[in-house]
Amino acid sequence: MKGIILAGGFGTRLHPLTTVTSKQLLPVYDKPMVYYPLSVLMQAGIREILVISRPEHLDGFRTLLGDGSALGLRLDFAVQSAPRGLADALLVGREFIGDQRVCLILGDNIFHGPELPLVLEEEVNKLDGCTLFGYPVPDPERYGVAVLDARGALVDLEEKPAVPDGDLAVTGLYLYDNEAVGYAAELTPSARGELEITDLNRRFLAEGRARLVHLGPGTAWLDTGTPDSLLEAGAFVQMFEKRQGTRIACLEEVAYRMGFVPADGMRELIRAAGPQTPKGRYLTRLLDSSELPLPARDVRTARR
Ligand code: DAU
Repeated sequence: MKGIILAGGFGTRLHPLTTVTSKQLLPVYDKPMVYYPLSVLMQAGIREILVISRPEHLDGFRTLLGDGSALGLRLDFAVQSAPRGLADALLVGREFIGDQRVCLILGDNIFHGPELPLVLEEEVNKLDGCTLFGYPVPDPERYGVAVLDARGALVDLEEKPAVPDGDLAVTGLYLYDNEAVGYAAELTPSARGELEITDLNRRFLAEGRARLVHLGPGTAWLDTGTPDSLLEAGAFVQMFEKRQGTRIACLEEVAYRMGFVPADGMRELIRAAGPQTPKGRYLTRLLDSSELPLPARDVRTARR
């Protein structure tokens, strides 16, 4: 399975923070925003990843992330020349996806939870059509909304409904079988001129091939779209990291835990981070811990 991070758009609600840089390069506490979705794709066992952004910001992503090889990844970069909608990511990434399945994640979505790697692994294995991840929110009118029947089955998907039918937002993490690329090419722009991801998902739903997974209370999904939510996301990460003594979206850690880099590679990453920095010391502790690497056994058996 291939991965795509969609990190374009204008970040209008964050102006002037986003006047000269990309929203997804802004800091969320101690790391750039794009680290968070990248860590999610890595936790899904995905190693070939395309980062899509605006032409003027692509070099920033390249400089930040490089080719990914130190983390056992292969990173590619592509331009979305205009914000034509979320489903356009599958068209920009068409060649990159080739004949494989794809996991699309929005560059401004932050997920965190101890069960996430296992949930993702299971869903990647089960995928048939498309898989969406729902999360209850107090303001569903701001999101794509999953409508359920009395038995909890997914019966409809609505994009930013004025009067939402339920409080289950569809998060910005999507798993697709390969035909999603062809379906995206057949979409027509919505009233706001975008190729809507919800229209693509509705097509799978009409075929009876859209699955909704509830992200349980053990998982956090954070918004970063406004100055307030950006600050709150940073505060969440800070509080969590300080209290728990662990890190969220620490790419070196995830790469090691997933078995993408061996112990020697980890030592190299520690040298690069600076062995005496807080991160270097954190990574050294992990390397010395007998618990690691953790879920690599499951990853190796997963269908890709
Ligand atoms: O965050 C989850 C929500 O994301 C879903 O619940 C909605 O169904 C989905 O439409 C989307 O809603 P947003 O209002 O958050 O979408 P927005 O236009 O803000 O775009 C989300 C991110 O994708 C943002 O960081 C900018 C980027 N983007 C957006 C568009 C339209 C692109 O890179 N290219 C684009 O063409």
